[in-house]
Amino acid sequence: MLSRRDFYRFGSIALGNVIALAVAIPGVRYLLDPLSKRAQDRESRSLARLSQLVPGKPQAFPIIESRQDAWVKYPREPVGSVWLIREPREGPKVVAFTAECPHLGCAVGLSADGRSFSCPCHTSSFAFDGSPQNKVPPRGMDPLEVELSDEPDPQVRVKFVRYQTQSKERKPLV
Ligand code: FES
Repeated sequence: MLSRRDFYRFGSIALGNVIALAVAIPGVRYLLDPLSKRAQDRESRSLARLSQLVPGKPQAFPIIESRQDAWVKYPREPVGSVWLIREPREGPKVVAFTAECPHLGCAVGLSADGRSFSCPCHTSSFAFDGSPQNKVPPRGMDPLEVELSDEPDPQVRVKFVRYQTQSKERKPLV
């Protein structure tokens, strides 16, 4: 049988634990929030319909995201872009590359003659299969996973991932 003193002692300990949990849970969720946001970033997003893509011609599509820090929610804005290329021969096959240059992260565009990719910052050059064409970039362009939806005119869905620059190895940013 608990004495009144023990009852108050255990009661106040239990109450203290409940209050500590009530404070800790939102704190832990706040700390883990960026991880869940990164997981969301890696979900596939629809960038185009297959019918929009001209076979053999690279086309760039922006990645639009909204940013949020502890205090401010920013409006949705472009945070990068992706090159999509529909294969000219192999039916509805599409390849995707992030436009972020593996050298130092500038946006890779098309060369003046339109026959390769080229980066305006330090002249990195890449073939349309992403392989490097000079020694400036440490590796080829970074390919992204592509899914086509099961529709007559499929959605082209891409998993957008950012990779470390200045590295021979392809390491996703966490
Ligand atoms: S950032 Fe592209 S060549 Fe340097």
